[in-house]
Amino acid sequence: MKYDDIKKMMNPQFENFSVYASMPSNDSLIEKYSIKADKIVKLNGNENPFGPHPKVLENISKIPIHIYPDDEYLKSRQSLAEYTDLNIDNIVVSCGSDELIDLLFRIFVTPGDEVLDFTPTFGMYSVRAQLAGAKIIPVIRDENFNLNRTKIKEKINSKTKILFLASPNNPTGNESSVEDIEFLLGLNKILVIDEAYFEFSKKSYANLINKYSNLIILRSMSKWAGLAGLRIGYGLMSKELSELSRSVKNPYNVSNIAEESLIISLKNASYLMEKVDLIIIEREKLKIKLEKLSDIKVYPSNANFLLCKLLNSNLKELNIKLIKNGVFVRLFPSKELENCFRVSIGTADDNEYFFDNLIKYVK
Ligand SMILES: Cc1ncc(COP(=O)(O)O)c(C=O)c1O
Repeated sequence: MKYDDIKKMMNPQFENFSVYASMPSNDSLIEKYSIKADKIVKLNGNENPFGPHPKVLENISKIPIHIYPDDEYLKSRQSLAEYTDLNIDNIVVSCGSDELIDLLFRIFVTPGDEVLDFTPTFGMYSVRAQLAGAKIIPVIRDENFNLNRTKIKEKINSKTKILFLASPNNPTGNESSVEDIEFLLGLNKILVIDEAYFEFSKKSYANLINKYSNLIILRSMSKWAGLAGLRIGYGLMSKELSELSRSVKNPYNVSNIAEESLIISLKNASYLMEKVDLIIIEREKLKIKLEKLSDIKVYPSNANFLLCKLLNSNLKELNIKLIKNGVFVRLFPSKELENCFRVSIGTADDNEYFFDNLIKYVK
């Protein structure tokens, strides 16, 4: 059978599907750009430069992987109930928060529905919404990347079922105001607040889920707890929505290793939060240094990265020079982020290496 004939049998959503631009691995970049640098500094994935808690690593070889996980994930949900001060019935664990983004679009979106995309924001929302059959309606943020409430009001209609708001937002780093959250909650749609960077911003709306049955909070263990490679996140929502989400997700969506690692991380949260605080200190130190460069505009951030705009130089050329020196930052194709790059905060050494290489080319 020809691939063209096979394509005709596919769900039409796949015809014009724009893929999520995920991060190329270090190895593929090294090969693509024939990098000879002896040091590689990966600051393109908002990962945790300190890695997981040491006990997570010690414990991994002891975890039985020949048996399936507990399909109710009671132990991890109980730990999360204590961590979040909510009830176990409000909690869904997932294979990274990405899995819940996808699941929520599939639960709430019917082909033909519209999904507002608060551009620029996390690219996964529009990709998964599109896959669920939604039409994406961009609602551009203002010059400081705050929401444009007037435009949101204009664009929202009966085809809008679910709104996704990352706060802090990726890749801009800013949080939404309480007024914005109240405004969005008042629209009587499902509001998903993605708090992937909550431990860095320390601002959460999780306590509101008992008050607003249309509110869902997403969290990640990838950033603050250094478990990006294990793929584990969770959602906080009403008892009813949690029950539904748990019954329609894949039954064994989180591995034994990921579940146990989450439990160990939460038991040792104070150690991990010390590392988070170090990352915040490093972020502010790097921001001050970047602000002194006349060719760079750096935006305020409440997360583990900084968004920078290059004012005069050519970003693509700069990026290739950085890559050749073993420094990886993240660029974005969208118009709103023209000449912008995002740099994740690494260790003090990583950040210094990035900065020293940057100032070879940028004044
Ligand atoms: C805003 C936001 N949400 C969700 C995710 C996905 O996180 P996870 O690794 O838990 O799937 C990311 C990852 O970068 C993110 O920036």
